[in-house]
Amino acid sequence: MTSPLPPLDDYLKAQSAQFEAELCELLRIPSVSADPAFAADVRRAAGWVADQLSGLGLATEIVQTEGHPIVVAASKHQPGKPTVLVYGHYDVQPPDPLDEWITPPFEPTVRDGNVVARGATDDKGQMFTHIKSAEAWIKTAGELPLNVKYLIEGEEEVGSEHLDKFIAEHKERLACDCIVISDSCQFGPGQPAITYGLRGIAYYELRITGPKQDLHSGTFGGGVMNPAIALTKVLSAMIDDRGRIQLPGYYDEVVPLTDEERKQFAALPFDEPKFQEKLGVPALAGEEGFTTLERRWARPTFDINGLWSGYQGKGAKTVLPAKAGAKFSFRLVPKQDPAKLTAALRKFIEEHCPAGVRWELVDMHGAPGVVASLDSPYMAAAGRAIELGFGKAPVMIREGGSIPVVNTFHDLLGVDTLLLGWGLDDDNTHSPNEKFCLADFHRGIRASAYLWDELSRMTKDQT
Ligand code: BES
Ligand code: MN
Ligand code: MN
Repeated sequence: MTSPLPPLDDYLKAQSAQFEAELCELLRIPSVSADPAFAADVRRAAGWVADQLSGLGLATEIVQTEGHPIVVAASKHQPGKPTVLVYGHYDVQPPDPLDEWITPPFEPTVRDGNVVARGATDDKGQMFTHIKSAEAWIKTAGELPLNVKYLIEGEEEVGSEHLDKFIAEHKERLACDCIVISDSCQFGPGQPAITYGLRGIAYYELRITGPKQDLHSGTFGGGVMNPAIALTKVLSAMIDDRGRIQLPGYYDEVVPLTDEERKQFAALPFDEPKFQEKLGVPALAGEEGFTTLERRWARPTFDINGLWSGYQGKGAKTVLPAKAGAKFSFRLVPKQDPAKLTAALRKFIEEHCPAGVRWELVDMHGAPGVVASLDSPYMAAAGRAIELGFGKAPVMIREGGSIPVVNTFHDLLGVDTLLLGWGLDDDNTHSPNEKFCLADFHRGIRASAYLWDELSRMTKDQT
């Protein structure tokens, strides 16, 4: 496609190796937010991002919180021009299991056109596209065509605990016409997408305790409730054989898929056998009566994320464990309320947990799902920018993952978010060998640079 902005494209081409080298620098910092042992590296990553932004002449601040720092920056205000806020996260998931990585997670390596490292796509690589696009504008045109603000946090992967408070206290500073997040996926290779819906989440830990200490399962088994049995009874009661969650009231607020939306999902070129084969599962599974895309994008779910009890070592050990525990979560669709779910869950555990053990439920974090309106002028602008950057018009999709801050932005700033994902769903996010396609990295930068142009042409009264 011919470019409407030739100097900008020349700059992007000339700098492409430099951009990749810089991304690798960021990927080398192990900014694992969940593990306190990495706290200094998390701070180092915040500093690195802040240096990038201040290097562009943006007013930049590293805001300390009770957790990990937030990087906030703003270009010099140009009155009368629209303002866009970019959100991203510089923290990453723990890299475990380490022995499944072909190359170490924090030694970025290029293989088959992909950069492989923890955080490559989630979210360092995607977030960085919006910094490099700003650089391209500043270096070629002398300034950005609109006002750009950045809010890059370090606690996204652990529930963004301190972000809401910061947003609530700095509404003026974050005021904007439009918000952009690149922290999701395209529909598939060569098929970019705009995501108009995300699922929410409600995450818990259940701890069950029985006897004071582990017991001989021969001497005591049968006479004492086994905490692992109690735990698995509660968990298996949660979902039936048809994939329906058994919590009373769980589906009450679920917005049913419209015929129109089901048709749109069905029209997307989704290859189910290939999807199954890539995942290495003998069959796909889920709630009866729904397609795989419907199950993943628009239906609420229950998943066990971690499960522990008893002897895990070599050989056999006849033990009746003193404790058992699980981490589990529900993905929610719009209108389902995480707080209401917690109350129903406590009642459910009360009713299903056998006598003879004690239980404790920890409510770890929660956020509702979102669906944005498809007909906003911002969606149209993003569509044009993506077409210019990727050479193909995007399709409209929903996704199953969660980005809780999208709700906060809506509630506190009154602004909807454009979710423009440059990743692919086989990028191994949260898994070993996470990757990001370098061609998509560059296409993402280009789409972002064109997005600033598209948005700059919008008058403020379109908001
Ligand atoms: N980037 C993901 C969210 C995502 C993944 C959106 C795939 C769309 C498609 C984000 O970093 C993430 O992992 N979010 C968590 C949320 C949580 C920790 C509150 C998630 O979805 O599990
Ligand atoms: Mn992410
Ligand atoms: Mn993530």
